[in-house]
Amino acid sequence: MFIVLEGIGGSGKGTLMIRLCELMKAQGIAHVRTREPGGTPIAERLRGLVREGFPFDGEQHFANPWATTLLFNAARSQHVEELIIPSIRQDKVVLSDRFCDSTFVYQSVFMGLELDKLKTLHNLAIGIYPDMTFLLDCPAETANNRVTPQEKNDDQFDRASLDKQEGIRQAYLELAKEHPERYCVVDASGTPESVWEQVEPYFTANLLPLIKHEEYIYASQWAE
Ligand code: TYD
Repeated sequence: MFIVLEGIGGSGKGTLMIRLCELMKAQGIAHVRTREPGGTPIAERLRGLVREGFPFDGEQHFANPWATTLLFNAARSQHVEELIIPSIRQDKVVLSDRFCDSTFVYQSVFMGLELDKLKTLHNLAIGIYPDMTFLLDCPAETANNRVTPQEKNDDQFDRASLDKQEGIRQAYLELAKEHPERYCVVDASGTPESVWEQVEPYFTANLLPLIKHEEYIYASQWAE
C-alpha cells in the first residue's frame, strides 16, 4: 500500500509521519518512510535545486515554472522506479511525505501552470497514484507560525505570502473533494495529539485490515 501525507508547510506532516511509522512498527508491518522531492540519491540531489535554487554568480537562481515542474517529475520518476515500486513489490507499506498532489497544487497555484497539463504530464511520466492520502488541513497563518526561519530560508515555497499559502490549502481541499476515495482530510489546526486522535482510528479501522490481508485498495492501478 502506498500512503502519502500532504499539506502546506508547517501543517505537521513530519510529526504525523513519525507516529504512523511507530504504529506500523508496533504492529510488525514492514514499511518504508520516504519523502518528496527526494527518497533516492539522485532525487535528493534534485531536491536541493528545486527548493533552494541554482547557485552561480554569487546568487541563487531559480529555474522557470516548467523547468521546475520537470525537475520535480524527474525526481519523482527516479523515486517511483527505484524505491516506491520495488518496496510495494516486497509487500512493504510505503509512506511518503508529499507526492504528485504537491505538484498539482504548488505548480498551479505558485507557478501559474494549468492543472490539466500538470495531470497530463503526471499520467505520461509517472502514472501511479497513492492508495490513500492524509491531507493535513489548517489555516495558512497557523501553519506559517510553525515554520522556522531556517526552513523559510531553505525553501522558496515556504517563503511565499500567506495568501499564496491559503491558495495552496484551498487547491488541496479541491483535490480532496474530487477524489474522496483516496483522501482523508484531517483538521491540523490543533495539537499533534488532536491530529493523531483523528488519524489513528481511521487508519486502524480502514487501512490496517487491508494491509494485514494484503488487499490493496487500488492495486489495479500499479503499472506492470
Ligand atoms: P519540504 O521540506 O517537503 O517542505 P514542507 O516542510 O513544507 O513539507 O520541501 C518541499 C517543498 O517543495 C515544499 O515547499 C513544497 C514544494 N513542492 C512543490 O512545489 N512541488 C512538488 O511536487 C513537491 C513534491 C514539493
